[in-house]
Amino acid sequence: MTASEELHRRRTAAVSRGVSSMLSSYMSHGNGATVTDVDGQEWIDFGSGIAVTSVGHASPRVIEAVQTQVELFTHTCFMVAPYEGYVAVCEALNELTPGHHEKKSALFNSGAEAVENAVKIARHATGRSAIVVFDHAYHGRTNLTMALTAKNMPYKHRFGPFAGEISRAPMSYPLRDGGLTGAAAAARALDLVEKQVGAENVAAVLIEPIQGEGGFVVPAPGFLPALSAWATAHGALFIADEIQTGFCRTGDWFACEHEAVVPDLVTTAKGIAGGLPLAGVTGRADVMDAIHPSGLGGTYGGNPVACAAAVATIATMRQLHLFAAARHLESVLLPRLEELAAKHAIVGEVRGRGAMLAIELVEPGVTTSAAGGPPPNPAATQALARECHAAGLLVLTCGTYGNVLRLLPPLVIDDETLQRGLDIFADALASVSN
Ligand SMILES: Cc1ncc(COP(=O)(O)O)c(C=O)c1O
Repeated sequence: MTASEELHRRRTAAVSRGVSSMLSSYMSHGNGATVTDVDGQEWIDFGSGIAVTSVGHASPRVIEAVQTQVELFTHTCFMVAPYEGYVAVCEALNELTPGHHEKKSALFNSGAEAVENAVKIARHATGRSAIVVFDHAYHGRTNLTMALTAKNMPYKHRFGPFAGEISRAPMSYPLRDGGLTGAAAAARALDLVEKQVGAENVAAVLIEPIQGEGGFVVPAPGFLPALSAWATAHGALFIADEIQTGFCRTGDWFACEHEAVVPDLVTTAKGIAGGLPLAGVTGRADVMDAIHPSGLGGTYGGNPVACAAAVATIATMRQLHLFAAARHLESVLLPRLEELAAKHAIVGEVRGRGAMLAIELVEPGVTTSAAGGPPPNPAATQALARECHAAGLLVLTCGTYGNVLRLLPPLVIDDETLQRGLDIFADALASVSN
């Protein structure tokens, strides 16, 4: 029995079936863009723990900052006895998120918690209750965020009843909406909101600038600016959920910058702290300060060790210009993926930005389906992921139809490792296509 098999036996006996793992190999350590399992096999990591370890595994600054902080103190609770790290992370968030207006931030533990708090803040600040979200959206798995998330299985199935006052609008999804322009897709969504919700009841429009779990859906240009302008015109807040897209992943500090959209509130997590659990809500100072004292918080939110990791992570991103690194990764990955798409008819689309890229797999030769556009091919997607894993490349799937293979390498990956990963990916795709 291998060490992983033995761990898997223990895990099956001890861990709830509801928490599953993509791999049955258990990890021992990581370095840069690779992780090594307990049996000594090295994996090239094209997943970054779902877009988290952007600065790489075992990033030296993060290690040093965490070690130093752990020896000083691990917890006082910021609501009880405050400390500098929390303030420093808020200062960085206020500076780096889009817009030069006065901003303030609050810190939490997870992405879902940040989104929940953004909704609380928006409702409180506007005195309205309706939240507009989109098809294919993913915002988390807590009760409120399940209501905001679109996909039933596995996220919501039999976990209801869900929180109310959430309205879902159609997304701009060029492959599956007949190629509507951003303006036309926004008009379609906002017309529905005006008819079914009423603009004056909307507290916030909440959207991922590029959808993550929903399939790396990149809205048509103009969609996000139109939603943001509508929100401003109607006294609602525009909330960008940048939990997956933020912190250099798409080639800018935040994905909204690509279309010069300045959100009222931004949620962040994942890449912010090099793998430690930390999340934030950042926004207009007047909105963030609308909340009464003690209205926001939690025991662990902005934990000092996580804040030390975030300060080191952000310093690393600045020092290594990781937004530029993400653009470089796009310049290597995108042409190669497009070449593969030209060769293999099961690739329906290549899309994404920076180091957040994906291929959507379809049934070749058919152009229409109930999903709009070509029929999704989840079986080939699963097979492709399995082939990659068997060859030591860690990739993730996503998408409402389970037919999107996404690439999220650490932004510090070197060209040689990147090419090795891409070669494995190309071979796996060829074997699945044939
Ligand atoms: C866009 C987005 N929002 C929210 C979340 C939830 O974050 P967490 O898993 O840290 O609760 C995720 C996680 O994948 C996400 O991608």
